[in-house]
Amino acid sequence: MTILGIESSCDETSAAVVRDGVLLSNVISSQHFHSAYGGVVPELASRAHLQAVLPIIRRALEEAGITTGDIDAVAGTQGPGLIGSLLVGLNVGKGFALGSGIPFIPIHHIEAHLFSTFLDEPHPEFPYLGLVVSGGHTLLIVVHGVGEYEFLGSTIDDAVGEAFDKVAKMLGLGYPGGPVIDQRAQRGNPTAIAFARPMIDSKDYRFSFSGLKTSVLYHLRDRAVDGILDLSESDIDDICAGFQQAAVDVLVAKVMRAVEQFQLQDIAVVGGVSANTGLGAALRARSAVSGHRVFIPDLRFSTDNAAMVARLADLKGLPADPSNLIAPAFARIGDTFFHDAS
Ligand code: KG4
Ligand code: ZN
Repeated sequence: MTILGIESSCDETSAAVVRDGVLLSNVISSQHFHSAYGGVVPELASRAHLQAVLPIIRRALEEAGITTGDIDAVAGTQGPGLIGSLLVGLNVGKGFALGSGIPFIPIHHIEAHLFSTFLDEPHPEFPYLGLVVSGGHTLLIVVHGVGEYEFLGSTIDDAVGEAFDKVAKMLGLGYPGGPVIDQRAQRGNPTAIAFARPMIDSKDYRFSFSGLKTSVLYHLRDRAVDGILDLSESDIDDICAGFQQAAVDVLVAKVMRAVEQFQLQDIAVVGGVSANTGLGAALRARSAVSGHRVFIPDLRFSTDNAAMVARLADLKGLPADPSNLIAPAFARIGDTFFHDAS
């Protein structure tokens, strides 16, 4: 079965082709212009998706070496994400399916991230622990199978990627903050400044990254003399390293507790923050000792992409329900996505 996937939930327009589980193409166009505004501007994002989407689909088909007649189904992201952005890819996908007389498969963005580790071999085996770390979400989920998700916990305030972005903004490092903090952290000393590690000892699987962000804010405020903050390049490196270490320590502590409690062997870390080198190194080091396996998608599959959308659609198979053409876009994760472990 050949599936065209389309993704436009935030600031990446992407189209991909998957045939029988094998990725044939994955074209991603990132809207870099948002950095000038310090964050994604929703209205500008939707307009840019509108301009990019058809040429991107055309390129994905060209790179896959197929024509429209070869496609058996179209998959598109429903949400969560920015509504204006989602509507572009979702409606282009539905129009494509309707015009070609083929099924449309609506895809949940978080669910697609959970299966982004299935774009390479080997991939995790069910049941596995999914840690979703992105700009909008921080979630721990036990993945029992396609469509079978057990919710363990999430952030009670900021997502971890959001904290990276906000701390980068405080330090004048631009948007998005994750990649630049990651780079600078590699030059800094992670023990120079001890930032708060909120909820690290709580016995549940909830996170709080707003407290960590505030701890960085207070540190900067305390260092200012007469309201002026004079930081050297190496001071900034140390702040980045200390902040990243605190975030990583909390994530690793909860992941290791979850795999012990639920007796899971495999761990999949997905979403934009899975690209973080400190997080990957720390989890791999801990798992090497405990005997768990860690799966982190390749960089091109960690940030938003259509390959994961088409791959999940391929795993789900063709929909029995032709009414998928009325599947709505939605902004928030929704409470029907998983059942609660508690
Ligand atoms: O999954 P994603 O592309 O989009 C959302 O669905 O949110 O994640 C974007 C987030 C941003 O907050 C960005 O700062 C963060 O991922 N990010 C990173 C790194 N690369 C991207 N955070 C930490 N370290 C990185 N290397
Ligand atoms: Zn995402």
